[in-house]
Amino acid sequence: MSESVLQHPLITTLENFSTILDKEFDKLLPQASVSLESKLYEAMRYSVFAGGKRIRPFLTYTTANMFNISSEYSLRVAVAIELIHTYSLIHDDLPAMDNDDLRRGKPTCHKKFDEATAILAGDTLLTLAFEILSDPLTHPNSNIRCKLVSIIARASGGYGMAGGQMIDLLAEHQKLGLEDTIRLQTLKTGELFVASCLAGAILGEASINAQGALKNYAYAIGLAFQITDDILDVEGNELAAGKKLHKDSSKGKATFVELLGLAQAKEYAESLITDANKYIENFGDNAKLLQDVAKFVINRNH
Ligand code: IPE
Ligand code: IPE
Ligand code: MG
Ligand code: MG
Ligand code: MG
Repeated sequence: MSESVLQHPLITTLENFSTILDKEFDKLLPQASVSLESKLYEAMRYSVFAGGKRIRPFLTYTTANMFNISSEYSLRVAVAIELIHTYSLIHDDLPAMDNDDLRRGKPTCHKKFDEATAILAGDTLLTLAFEILSDPLTHPNSNIRCKLVSIIARASGGYGMAGGQMIDLLAEHQKLGLEDTIRLQTLKTGELFVASCLAGAILGEASINAQGALKNYAYAIGLAFQITDDILDVEGNELAAGKKLHKDSSKGKATFVELLGLAQAKEYAESLITDANKYIENFGDNAKLLQDVAKFVINRNH
């Protein structure tokens, strides 16, 4: 990843978006109070406000904007998706999984608090996401809310992120070929990218064609995103990444770098981004920000 990455124009856009999103998080997360259970709320807030690029909620917000949906709705859906992503990171870092001490530049949730609290914080972020999605404040139309719940649940569960994480762990002891590695990465990371884009399209009651185009775009950038994460694990900078790097090969993780080597993994990620931009060609200038996201996905240092 080159130094020019630091000036990537999307970084400022994402930072501005994060400021808006953080206000919504503050409204929707339980307040740490004097009650007995407040340690749980503190742990949830700690991990959410530790930061992160906020790329998935940005996709939701941006696709919803393409269909002129009020941010009153799209920000709540964006929050729900980022809560699920944050939960997945808290659990991913646990000793039973990747056993990491650093996340988003800070001690991981189980290091800052303890393992049991980190497990509960993850559980509670996940369930809060669905409480938010099913709330009429998220959209007055219950059919739309139900569709959001359905696609986001599927993308997070056994046919999505959690299923992918299972393969990821099994693959530490079993060598995977290209097809299985694509499946692993698509489930673990790609499906939530797809749900993030489709959520905006569902809010916008987009046509089947528009939804199909966004879905193809998101599968391509989601896979490219995880390939880049694997590349950064090999040649990234820990300070910029805010997490421990150089761990995948020692843990025997199934990555594209392991399978294809760095150069070919990069070529593959680039070809996915070219494909992604083709899928959204028909949206014209309306999809300019999505094109910027696609470029950012492979040209980032964190
Ligand atoms: C990290 O996701 C986990 C992967 C799926 C590679 P991000 O790189 O989006 O992490 P944050 O949200 O910016 O911390
Ligand atoms: C995790 O993938 C993806 C999730 C679904 C949380 P990684 O294990 O590669 O993510 P990092 O490198 O710890 O962020
Ligand atoms: Mg992992
Ligand atoms: Mg990890
Ligand atoms: Mg990684």
